[in-house]
Amino acid sequence: MTEVPRTDMRGKVIVCTGAASGIGRSTAEIAAQRGAAVVVADLNEAGGKETVNGIEAAGGAASFIRTDVTQEEDVRRMVEHTVETFGGLHGAFNNAGLPPTSKPLHKLELAEWQRSIEINLTGVFLCMKYEIEVMLEGGGGSIVNTSSAAGLRGNIGFTEYIAAKHGVIGITRAAAVEYGPEKIRVNTLVPGAVRTPMLQAGADLDLNVFSREKYPLARIGEPSELGEAVAWLLSDAASYVTGVYLPVDGGTTAT
Ligand SMILES: NC(=O)c1ccc[n+]([C@@H]2O[C@H](COP(=O)([O-])OP(=O)(O)OC[C@H]3O[C@@H](n4cnc5c(N)ncnc54)[C@H](O)[C@@H]3O)[C@@H](O)[C@H]2O)c1
Repeated sequence: MTEVPRTDMRGKVIVCTGAASGIGRSTAEIAAQRGAAVVVADLNEAGGKETVNGIEAAGGAASFIRTDVTQEEDVRRMVEHTVETFGGLHGAFNNAGLPPTSKPLHKLELAEWQRSIEINLTGVFLCMKYEIEVMLEGGGGSIVNTSSAAGLRGNIGFTEYIAAKHGVIGITRAAAVEYGPEKIRVNTLVPGAVRTPMLQAGADLDLNVFSREKYPLARIGEPSELGEAVAWLLSDAASYVTGVYLPVDGGTTAT
């Protein structure tokens, strides 16, 4: 019988962006629990250091680097820091993001459009650019980029976010096709509604009321439920999975 690789992440070095809170923090914690050394990258220094402290207190290995994913030099340094601190780069979770403006298209300012594209799409491109360079030298790796249910369909007041998140699925597929032969797997996470500061910032949403028509599991998702799926995609257990988007969304994109 073929031996099936496990979700064990011992010996792996993983970088997570947007890991000062929410889905990124949870993924960093789960990867560290599975034995990975984790670099926590975020604009938010206090939150990022809190993530690292939590991982270290639980006996894991982690390091924080302040990173603005829209700044090429920051991203280059993030990858360099990862290799210098932990000796390589095997996995990356490109997850930092900015919520939608909730404005109708005709009220959206050009600067708001550009900011969303810059963080939610260009940030993912820059991260992949520098991560893939190192993974090519190291003989392979696994990358997970965060999109959204809004990366698959329309929604009112989400124009700039929808454009960026559709783009994430596109560049993920492009990279999966381009680097498959080099043993670099690239996949997209599609979260539904998840209990994080980003969602809680969205004003009038009652986080306890989820209609079964729109959310078949009739509840909000918890960050750890997303982190679990990302850890699997980053691990060797997902060794034959590339170029896919994985909805972890309580069934909302099935409706
Ligand atoms: N929470 C949801 O319901 C939901 C749904 C769909 C998609 N998502 C996506 O999931 C990802 C994570 O979001 P979350 O819900 O955990 O939110 P969050 O607000 O908890 O985390 C986002 C993190 O990204 C960081 N960040 C923002 N801009 C950055 C930049 N330029 N450089 C580096 N870091 C930056 C923030 O400081 C923050 O720590 C985002 O890409 C978001 O679009 C979330």
